[in-house]
Amino acid sequence: MSEIGLLRVNRDRLRTDLVRLAEIGAYDDAPTGLRGVRRLALTDEDAQARRQVIEWMREAGLVVRIDRIGNVYGRRAGIDDSMPCVLMGSHIDTVTSGGAFDGTLGVLGGIEVVRTFNDHNLRTLRPVEVGFFTEEEGVRFGVDMLGSSVTAGRLTLEFAHKLTDDSGASVSDELVRTGFDGPEPERRPIPHAYIECHIEQGPILAAAGVDVGIVTGVQSISWQRLELHGEASHAGATPIEHRKDAGVAAAAVILEIRRMCESGEFGGLRGTVGKLSMEPGSTNVVPSGVRMTIDLRNPDDDAMTAAEAHLAEFVSGLAAQHGVAGILERMAKTLVREFDPGVQALLAATADDLGLPYVVTMSGAGHDAQEIAAICPTAMVFVAGEYGGISHTPREYSNPAACGNGADLLANAIYRLASQPAG
Ligand code: GLV
Ligand code: MN
Ligand code: MN
Repeated sequence: MSEIGLLRVNRDRLRTDLVRLAEIGAYDDAPTGLRGVRRLALTDEDAQARRQVIEWMREAGLVVRIDRIGNVYGRRAGIDDSMPCVLMGSHIDTVTSGGAFDGTLGVLGGIEVVRTFNDHNLRTLRPVEVGFFTEEEGVRFGVDMLGSSVTAGRLTLEFAHKLTDDSGASVSDELVRTGFDGPEPERRPIPHAYIECHIEQGPILAAAGVDVGIVTGVQSISWQRLELHGEASHAGATPIEHRKDAGVAAAAVILEIRRMCESGEFGGLRGTVGKLSMEPGSTNVVPSGVRMTIDLRNPDDDAMTAAEAHLAEFVSGLAAQHGVAGILERMAKTLVREFDPGVQALLAATADDLGLPYVVTMSGAGHDAQEIAAICPTAMVFVAGEYGGISHTPREYSNPAACGNGADLLANAIYRLASQPAG
């Protein structure tokens, strides 16, 4: 490749930063007995982590800018700085009980790539940028990949700004409160290419005995909110046949989703009810109301459409079966996204040059890359996780060698892309 041969990142430096960032928003997770990370988007913890990452970006010589949805980009000038940049990045917000690697590996790995270029006084033809996107998890404001989808133009800034969390705080208020209501236009200049390095969050790489994967695309994701309206009545005195029990209806929905997944009728459907609350919430009162979320994933768009239609029909049937009315409300939906074959091929050739065995796989999880893929050639590097690749829990863990190998692949692929002339 270059006059300096293949690049290797500083694994200790990357590890140190992953550990340090995980201290921001750290909490004691009772179920696992481990330290977890809780850094929901645009909370004080997220803001503190953002400031820390910006400091590291600046120390690496990057020029930082913030856009109107709070996405942050750090830029390293190119020899021809007028050329479209090569972008890398991910997110630093977490789920409520997260680990140290989800998203952060792509962002801190990106900064480590820049430091590695600096170590070698390596200038690139094209500018190189590292970014992190607002509310990738969707846990706080209900829409996943929020910042990247606004940047890519799938969602409008106005829509995103008006979203509220459970306490009624809006995205725009929280951007202002945390100081991340940047001045830059949310529709950023189109990059030459984007690569996101991310932990796999599943078992495929570990089962194949490899540290890295090349990602072909991301499956469809459907998020809905379901409200169930029954009737509160006395737990002891109301005969079973007279009840309009929203809790029983909720249980029926949860079990139907599992049945749908196991039946094979909807392809490779995966379904999860991860959030549920009951009203009035008393031991001795039949529940009158339930609010719950439904997360469906499917590697096939038609099978996803069929699954959503079946679920809607099942929910309408709750009135006749349980005397409970159901209202489904769309939170978010993304279609299957296929990544750019050219960037995947470049990653494969780079992995071969590095002597890194890899698997080629679709992503089970959603990623900012699926949004950025709408505006420029995009692909992802996966890094294997321990314990079957378990993630969205403090048990999430990728060892230093796997993270280092993923970052090496990122560094060399980014260097190659950033060396590509126009045309
Ligand atoms: C993002 O982590 C997702 O929900 O897939
Ligand atoms: Mn992630
Ligand atoms: Mn995640």
